[in-house]
Amino acid sequence: MKGILITLEGNDGSGKSSVIEAIRKTLEEKGYPVVYTREPGGSQIAENIRKVILDVENTGMDAKTEALLYAASRREHIEKTIRPALEAGKIVLCDRFIDSSLAYQGYARGLGIDEVYHMNLYATEGLLPDLTILVCVKPEIGIARITQNHRGELDRLESEKMEFHQKVYQGYLAVQKKFSTRIQMIDGEKTKEEVRLDALDIVLRFIGEN
Ligand code: TYD
Repeated sequence: MKGILITLEGNDGSGKSSVIEAIRKTLEEKGYPVVYTREPGGSQIAENIRKVILDVENTGMDAKTEALLYAASRREHIEKTIRPALEAGKIVLCDRFIDSSLAYQGYARGLGIDEVYHMNLYATEGLLPDLTILVCVKPEIGIARITQNHRGELDRLESEKMEFHQKVYQGYLAVQKKFSTRIQMIDGEKTKEEVRLDALDIVLRFIGEN
């Protein structure tokens, strides 16, 4: 495939979405063809699945159902959005991807990182990011940030207990260890500007600009 798939990962409130926006802007200014997208969602059917997953009315959802829905939405997203863009030689910037499933469903929900990884490979037909940037903050900091930003309205995953968010954090550290070449971790507790610069440095180096 001619393009490059770069994914941004992080626990809730890590600030990865503003980091990805800064990367998009810089790459576009440098003349690269960029497609920005996000998960869960990123194509019409995938967005519909997103609504089911994040609906606060679905609180009793079984963990495997949740993992399968994320994988189903990912499959749609790849087929309709990501693969065509990569085939056209674009840089695809994706806010969350397979590593979210490994940290949230694999580790935090206890399904097992390897099990969720293999189930996802069926959905993605082996497509993995070329580069992943993981922005990590301690869960207490992340949740305090999103509670402030959303003024109290949290989706189903965000409303989980602090114990779950601690596990997500631990899960990301375990996933990073497992894929330490592909996943570059940065400290999301630094200032916004420092975090952006750290992420830009990694991306520009990866594409041979620095
Ligand atoms: P979203 O509002 O898009 O979160 P954020 O702004 O934090 O990226 O909600 C996505 C939620 O879904 C988030 O809590 C992480 C979770 N998630 C999983 O549990 N597994 C997955 O595979 C993905 C893609 C997301």
